[in-house]
Parts: sequence; structure tokens; C-alpha cells
Amino acid sequence: MVGDGSMQSSPSIVVTKDHGEAIYLFLKEKNWLDIKKQPKDLENGFLAIPVNKNCPSSEDEIIIYDNNQTIEIRIENIDTALNPPSVEPHARLRASITKWLETSLVNEDFLPPKSRQNMIIELLSELPTKWEKLGDLILLPETAFSSEKWTSIISQDNQLSLWECIAEALKVERIGKQKQVNDDITRSSQAQLLLGDSSWVELLDFGVKFGFDACKVMYSSGNVTERHRIGNIDLQGETIVDCYAGIGYYTLPMLVRGEAELVHACELNQHSISALRWGAKANNVAERLIIHKGDNALTMPKLEGVADRCHLGLLPSSQSVWKLAIACLKEKGGTLHIHMNVEEEKIEQWIDSTISLLQQYSEELKRNYNLEVKHLEKVKWFSPRVRHVVLDVEFTRCE
Ligand SMILES: C[S@@+](CC[C@H](N)C(=O)[O-])C[C@H]1O[C@@H](n2cnc3c(N)ncnc32)[C@H](O)[C@@H]1O
Repeated sequence: MVGDGSMQSSPSIVVTKDHGEAIYLFLKEKNWLDIKKQPKDLENGFLAIPVNKNCPSSEDEIIIYDNNQTIEIRIENIDTALNPPSVEPHARLRASITKWLETSLVNEDFLPPKSRQNMIIELLSELPTKWEKLGDLILLPETAFSSEKWTSIISQDNQLSLWECIAEALKVERIGKQKQVNDDITRSSQAQLLLGDSSWVELLDFGVKFGFDACKVMYSSGNVTERHRIGNIDLQGETIVDCYAGIGYYTLPMLVRGEAELVHACELNQHSISALRWGAKANNVAERLIIHKGDNALTMPKLEGVADRCHLGLLPSSQSVWKLAIACLKEKGGTLHIHMNVEEEKIEQWIDSTISLLQQYSEELKRNYNLEVKHLEKVKWFSPRVRHVVLDVEFTRCE
């Protein structure tokens, strides 16, 4: 039984509480501490610290100093409680990496125990606090384990065991590391696989299956609320143009959950297109999807007048195709979903200028539309003052 409060008798070093911390650190440095068990308060101001089998069994062999004084200790079998298992992933990661460091640094004989302990504390302070979980693959941030301190101890010989240790702690099979998303228009991912044979991942989100190569395309986990909102719109009988379809972040929910009649997906990245095809097949919606490969400046003009709705999911802005998107709407009108990064205090101003611009484009296209803002969704913070927002604008023909 683990962590249920049950007690087990085990050898422990018994000292007065005022020396407890010094002894605890000493035992930890020596690797004599039994980390599975909890220290226990005894009567009369004594503390029992459980030790493992590496610890000598005779008190004479253990000489510990605190403030230049030899500390009196005794070894006794004491009933101590087991530590509860760590359920929180950050705590599990920290515990596993501590063990890995203790084993890896054991061979660094040139380091006195105190320096080794300090080094471990410093390395642990640099552990990643965030990561992206994509099925059984964890993508660590680009900066994780990349500092000078970390790279000085990671070697060809020990790196595999480090990635395995992280995978075990976070309960996944594969580990990768994010690299800056390519700054070109494809926004392609450059993640690097550290553990595992393949970077293809499959996810189920809100009843929709997604599959993609995590080292080749990006997946925006942060847009989950927007994906669900769009998936909740009843799209029966509608034709939609998804202007930046990617792997189908919105295309697939619109087809699977919204039950759109037809989605025209415009996309230029071949890796994303392969993933989108996979998703369409996996969700049994391929016959309601038409993929238009290429730059949407060239593909969208071929879709004039077909759409009840255009989805414009590009950040920081999709403004370059707003006019083309209005032209894609049916003569009777439709809805645009416009993604944009906007400074929080300028959102109202941005809405007004956007509506004016859309009105102007409509007039240039000789479409006599009434425009109405139906909704503004604040998806997430993009940076400290900038929000990723989505503006839903409805266009209706003036009679
Ligand atoms: C950031 S992803 C957006 C994916 C999805 N709409 C979302 O918001 O999560 C942008 C996608 O648009 C595609 N893209 C960018 N510029 C494009 C263009 N001019 N024509 C067609 N696709 C384009 C990229 O390849 C990429 O897959």
C-alpha cells in the first residue's frame, strides 16, 4: 500500500529536532535518505529520519557535524509513514529529474557533495513549468534543458535516459522540443523529436479526430475554446470557405459537429493538407470537403459567390484577404469570422475601423450589404497587452 497513511517499521536516524535539517541534507547528499518514507516527530523533541540500505548500520560509522560539533545520533527501527505518491505532473517531473541528477552527478567526483547539492538545486530551478501535451507526445519549450548549466551535463551517453525519465514522469511515450514556428506564411513547426520513432500524433478533441506530424505543422492548443464555439454553430445546409484551413482546426469541427453541407478549405502547406485529408477520412467527412491547394490570393477568386460563411483564422491578421472573402459570400450575404491580434484598449476602435473597411470593400464589390457585429470572442492573451480576438460580422443584402 502506498501513501495511505499506513506505517512501516524501518531503520531511521534519530536526532534532536534542532539538528534535523542538517542531518536531512547530509543524508540526502550521501544518498542514504529513504525518500519513500516520511520523517517522524518523536516525543521529547526527537526526530526520526528514515534511511535506505546504503546507510551504515552502526552508529560509529556515521559522524555528522553541525556548526563544527559532532552530533549525537542513534539508529532505531521506527514505524514511519510512506510518502504519498506525487500526483501532480510538475512534482513528478521534479522528483524524477532529482533522481536522474543524483545518479548522473555521482560520477562527478571532482565535485564536493555540497557543490553537487547546490548544482542540483540550480538545475532544478530551471525545469520547464509549461509544455504541450499532444496525445502521447510532450513538446517541451525550446528553452527547456538548453541553458549552459544543463548542456554541460547532458551528453551523448546520458541524454536518452534523461528523455526517458521525463517521459515516465509525465506518463507519455515520446518527447520532443518546440522550435520557433517558421516565420514564413506556412507557420510550419520545426519541433525536434528527442524520444520516439515518429512525430505523427492523433488527438480526439470534443468528438473530432485530428492527426498531424508535430514536427512539421503547428497545432494551436490555446485556441480550444474557439474551436469548440465554432463547432457548436449549427451549419446544416451551409457552404463555408475556410481561408487558412491548416490541419482542419476549424474545418473539421464545422463538418463533424456543425454538420456543414460543404467546406472549401484553402491551404498552401502540403504537410497541413496531408493532415487535413487524414482528418477528413478519420471523421468520415471527406465527401463534404474540397481542398484548394495554393495561395488563397489565387484560390479564393475561384470561389466567388459560393459561401454562407468565411473563416479567416490567420494571426496577426487576415486583412489581406478580407475583400476576397466578401466576394466569396453569396449575393444574399453571409458571415465572416475574422481573427486578429488587437491591443486590449484598442478593441472597440478596431471594431469600428474594421466595419468601415468591410463596408468600403462591399461597395467596391458592388454588393449592397448591411453589416452587423454579431459577436466578439476574446480567445486568449497573445502577449501581455494584446488579445487574440474573433469578430463575427453578418452581411445581409439591403432590399
Ligand atoms: C496559424 S495557421 C491557422 C490554422 C487555423 N486556422 C488556426 O487558427 O488554428 C495558418 C495556416 O494558414 C496557412 N496559410 C498562410 N497563408 C496562406 C495563404 N496565403 N494561402 C493559403 N494558406 C495560407 C498556413 O499554411 C497555415 O496552415
